[in-house]
Amino acid sequence: MKQELKTLPNHIGFIIDGNGRWAKKRGLPRSAGHKAGSETLSLILKECFYTYNIPIVSIYAFSSENWKRPKQEIDYLMSLFEKYTSDDFIKEFPDVKLNIMGDESKFSSKLASQCQKTASITKNNYKYILNLGINYSGQEELVNAFNSIIKKGIKSVDRETIKSHLYTSGQPELDFVVRTSGEQRLSNFMLWQIAYAELYFPKTYWPSFNKKQLREALLVFQSRNRRFGEVK
Ligand code: FPP
Repeated sequence: MKQELKTLPNHIGFIIDGNGRWAKKRGLPRSAGHKAGSETLSLILKECFYTYNIPIVSIYAFSSENWKRPKQEIDYLMSLFEKYTSDDFIKEFPDVKLNIMGDESKFSSKLASQCQKTASITKNNYKYILNLGINYSGQEELVNAFNSIIKKGIKSVDRETIKSHLYTSGQPELDFVVRTSGEQRLSNFMLWQIAYAELYFPKTYWPSFNKKQLREALLVFQSRNRRFGEVK
């Protein structure tokens, strides 16, 4: 009998790792792994939002360190991001708010204007949110938050002040983070928001991650005993 899923995360994050290795294993170029990874992303987002009704999904698609990759790979990834954040996004996810996390100053003008346009068109979608990390760094997010606070002349901060200056202002923190491909690192992903998240590291490469494995991951989340520092 199928085990019941009763406790679901409100906010789930994915570090979508292993696209290059997935391609290599099949004798394909890395770009094929990224393309397959973008298809997996759509599948998993739909499952999270529409099957499980998880309201917030955060994705680490490109870190501020990823610029060190070969130009050809970066160009290909940027073209995927351009396609993903275009009107296609609104067609595929008409009720999802697109919230870009990351330094847009390094985006191409096309990617930047498109992200701004799609973010603006979807900004009143309150039911579901996709936080999409492109040129994202968790440490940089905190540096930017502190600088904005200083600029406002605020002399003393508490957690709420910091939270309200992050890309995820107004959102609950991460409950659960899945990093595919077996790597067990956070790699600068949402350092503030991850404080109490449960972590899960399946060995599967991201393009092979599927509905069944998502369900398994959610069962793992459900099985964890979250104490938030208390004795329970
Ligand atoms: C890390 O794994 C993944 C990336 C740097 C890129 C992830 C982006 C995509 C899959 C494109 C889809 C996303 C959107 C938003 C359209 P890796 O590919 O470096 O894998 P490896 O460690 O096996 O080489």
